[in-house]
Amino acid sequence: MKKTIMMSLALLGSLVAADYSAVIESPNASKLIEKDLLAPAKVYTMPKGCITTDADAIARGAFMFHNLNGGKVKGNPPKGLAKKNADDKPKQYGNCVACHNIEDAEGAGNIGPDLTSYNAMFMATGVRDNQFVYQKIADARVDNVNTHMTINLTTKLFNEREICDITSYIVSPK
Ligand code: HEC
Repeated sequence: MKKTIMMSLALLGSLVAADYSAVIESPNASKLIEKDLLAPAKVYTMPKGCITTDADAIARGAFMFHNLNGGKVKGNPPKGLAKKNADDKPKQYGNCVACHNIEDAEGAGNIGPDLTSYNAMFMATGVRDNQFVYQKIADARVDNVNTHMTINLTTKLFNEREICDITSYIVSPK
């Protein structure tokens, strides 16, 4: 008898719990915030002289690719790249290695495709071009609505010049 009461109590409990979760999950506040804050996907055209073989620009691109922010970084960033913003807060970099492997990456993630030998495999063969890579970094949603990749230009995380530096690094022969 006791057992039956316990079991029906447990059953009742699970029904009540299921009811609560329905209330909590609708509406989903974080989904609403995400939608409100993120502007729609946007198509961008590379600015003039975007892709360069300039060693400083490529070094800046590499630095942003491999590091998280100016507060966490060891050593000084290359010429033309700050460690802090005007408000003295650490500058945010790309931390692209969290998802992508590339030459000399330390502890690279594999959520995104491996970008090692990108020049030889994708540029020299004509599979990809500079504009594709630039757009992908600026706003990847244009050709993949459900992308897991970070949105960088539409969110103003980076400016055009910085995306050009990162693109120049990825497409450069290594
Ligand atoms: C949270 C994981 C994540 C982060 C962080 C990330 N990416 Fe990606 N990236 C992806 C995924 C997943 C794809 C493939 C799907 C797609 O194209 O949307 C991708 C695709 C790409 C491609 C296209 C490769 C090709 O030829 O198809 C490039 C280039 C790229 N990312 C560069 C970058 C750069 C540069 C950064 C840093 C500013 C970065 N990614 C940060 C996940 C990420």
